[in-house]
Amino acid sequence: MMAVGVDPQMPASTTLDKGATLSLRSVTKRFGGVAALSEFSLEVKPGELIGVIGPNGAGKSTLLSLINGAQRPTSGELVLDGTHRIDRLRAYRVARLGVARAHQIPRPFARMTVRENLLVGAQSAGRRAAASAHLVEDVLDLCGLSDRAQRPAGALPLLDLKRLEVARALSLDPRLLLLDEVAAGLVAHEIDEITELISGVHKRGVTILLVEHVQALVQALAERVVVIDFGKQIAEGTPAEIAEDPDVIRIYLGAGEEGATRRVRVEPDTPVKELLGTDRLCVDYGKLRALRDVDFKVGESEVVAVLGANGAGKTSLARALAGIVPAGDGKISFAGADITGLPAYKRARQGIAICHEGRRLFTGMKVRENLDLAAYSGASSGHQDELLARVYQLFPLLEQRAASLAGELSGGQQQMVAIARALMSDPRLVIFDELSLGLAPAVIDQIYVAIEEIRSWGISIVLIEQNAYRALGIADRAYVLERGTVSYVGSPEALEDPAALRAAYFGGAVVGKIAREGGKQEEMG
Ligand SMILES: Nc1ncnc2c1ncn2[C@@H]1O[C@H](COP(=O)(O)OP(=O)(O)OP(=O)(O)O)[C@@H](O)[C@H]1O
Ligand SMILES: [Mg+2]
Repeated sequence: MMAVGVDPQMPASTTLDKGATLSLRSVTKRFGGVAALSEFSLEVKPGELIGVIGPNGAGKSTLLSLINGAQRPTSGELVLDGTHRIDRLRAYRVARLGVARAHQIPRPFARMTVRENLLVGAQSAGRRAAASAHLVEDVLDLCGLSDRAQRPAGALPLLDLKRLEVARALSLDPRLLLLDEVAAGLVAHEIDEITELISGVHKRGVTILLVEHVQALVQALAERVVVIDFGKQIAEGTPAEIAEDPDVIRIYLGAGEEGATRRVRVEPDTPVKELLGTDRLCVDYGKLRALRDVDFKVGESEVVAVLGANGAGKTSLARALAGIVPAGDGKISFAGADITGLPAYKRARQGIAICHEGRRLFTGMKVRENLDLAAYSGASSGHQDELLARVYQLFPLLEQRAASLAGELSGGQQQMVAIARALMSDPRLVIFDELSLGLAPAVIDQIYVAIEEIRSWGISIVLIEQNAYRALGIADRAYVLERGTVSYVGSPEALEDPAALRAAYFGGAVVGKIAREGGKQEEMG
């Protein structure tokens, strides 16, 4: 029942110890020339919920890796319950002491069902079958996965994958839970859901370290926030104190949405020339129709936002446009030609690039090789150097880390590679599926400035984004998908009213009205 489990193998004194649950004492972790953490110290009190924030590559995931035994520190000590050195223990031993982690990039056993994935964790501590089964059902229920228990994990959409990642950690019945960006990629109401889930776990007495770029979660849950930059603690305080700290704002939080200004359209009524269009596009996965009769248009140099809850069909639309999944029905045209039957690689050569949700880099290849490969397979012909200069200007870090293996980069750094890779193919249209996934707030500010620049290169942009207001602030037009159909098409301004946005996300009578009005006003000819 996810009680504050007491390990029978632990020395009795630890259960009486009222000191820190976890102490890090002057911990350093080096990877070759990179010091991911240096001389880092932290005390975590029993039952605390600490938020850990900081720029991409600051060392947050490394911190969690050292705590759960996935990696060993170069120097320093990690102590559990004031007595137990854990920095030389193997990961499974640390897990048995009650430490569990949800990973930044979920990697469940894809061919096993959700329930089987949890049974692996529940049974790993030598728990009896009945007790394991009981624990698993409790975790399924807590994480809202009961009705998906029989599905193979590999077939889950993002929100469920994230839930499963948390559930897998909970299946170890931990007393110290390490969460690495569990809210990444979730839209507003899903963030509320995951907030409630974590709060529920915390109320059961579990101590939690929460690494997160989604500030809503940190603000709602953390009792104390620790800010890391370049492997060192640079600030500490309550969420409110941290949000006001000028250094933290400068280094990490950025100006946020308040700093963003809507682009002033010079001639709002000028008709745009259509670059891509779909006509009653449908996408089917077996018997499931994921996208139904979608009419979708993108003009030359236009930025089009696609919003909607997870599972609404945004990624299916992206994949159908890029040719990764076939159209079940309907047509797709690009630059005046019918491309409905064209395979993905030919669409790439014609200038359609996609930046996938979840990055999908060649992790065993160097950063530079990932970029070169895209230039080679896309529409670019002979001006790779120019393209490379352009993406290095966008993300200077990628030039510094060009020779690193992509898989060795932090989550946010990998997202930068994925964005750069899409641009390296010299596209006419880029589809960004979850543009700001895993990026620090200040970097998101930069990216949104960069979107303007990318558009000025004459590139059209489809922007799928969990942060609706952010995308609406820059888009020329917006679509909202709801259960596979278009529930809104029209001006982004009309959606800035939260009630209208909510209606478009969740359907109902109001939505029909919005869709019709918006469609009439704004649809391109
Ligand atoms: N296995 C590794 N080999 C080489 N370098 C690594 C390895 N793991 C991490 N690094 C480097 O250590 C630094 C810290 O990475 P870490 O993943 O801890 O960052 P993070 O704070 O979690 O960032 P993000 O917010 O982007 O997830 C980065 O510069 C990263 O490239
Ligand atoms: Mg990380």
